[in-house]
Amino acid sequence: MNEVVSLNSVTAAYPGKSILSDISFTLQKGEFVYLVGSTGSGKSTLLKLLYGDMNPIKGDIKVGSYDLSSLQRKQIPFLRRQLGIVFQDFQLLPDRSISENIRFVMRATGWKDASKIKQKIGDLLMEVGLSSRADAFPHQLSGGEQQRIAIARALVNDPWVLLADEPTGNLDPVASRTFMEILFRIHLGGTAILMATHDYQLIQEYPARTLELTDGKLKDHPIGMFHPQKFY
Ligand SMILES: Nc1ncnc2c1ncn2[C@@H]1O[C@H](COP(=O)(O)OP(=O)(O)O)[C@@H](O)[C@H]1O
Ligand SMILES: [Mg+2]
Repeated sequence: MNEVVSLNSVTAAYPGKSILSDISFTLQKGEFVYLVGSTGSGKSTLLKLLYGDMNPIKGDIKVGSYDLSSLQRKQIPFLRRQLGIVFQDFQLLPDRSISENIRFVMRATGWKDASKIKQKIGDLLMEVGLSSRADAFPHQLSGGEQQRIAIARALVNDPWVLLADEPTGNLDPVASRTFMEILFRIHLGGTAILMATHDYQLIQEYPARTLELTDGKLKDHPIGMFHPQKFY
């Protein structure tokens, strides 16, 4: 299967407030796509629909091998194994070391074999360039390093899709670029990535297809064709 995400005529709202109206798009295996739009335009809402944290009013959503309209609550943990998620505020457990943070998610998603777990943690830390920090605690890492651990944790089950909601929002420019280099490597390795951001400077430096939300509608800009009027 080459389509890893598909939305077909999706409409979503909060009580009394329309957010997305009749939007459709697909993501192919390994594609890198930005999701942009002003604050409040519905970027986080769209991501919530994809990770099963909210239901659309109408329309079909498919993620990985799951059709979300027929998804039962008890299947959500299985959906989440085909999805990795990274948020702006890292969300690491403060009282556990880096390797314990990753191990915690692995155990929670069914990993049992201790030596396989150890091996995978080593591979993941290598992938994000933090092999030497396995025993450090989150507060001993910079924000950029914590965000790289959050990516490693999101990749434990080799997801088909990585969703990132303003992942560089708390990072300085240098850390943001290191983060982007890692994301692009993951994308070239075959994982599709949908990254919500309003850092237009980063998009110019790391061009990719860009989905733009405005007034509940989605505009699809091919790679290199998103030219916002204003930078901020
Ligand atoms: N749980 C909620 N209940 C009601 N309104 C919400 C809720 N979450 C977000 N909103 C509103 O929906 C709109 C879109 O929010 P959001 O998807 O977070 O936008 P973005 O991520 O693009 O900033 C905003 O106006 C926001 O205030
Ligand atoms: Mg948001």
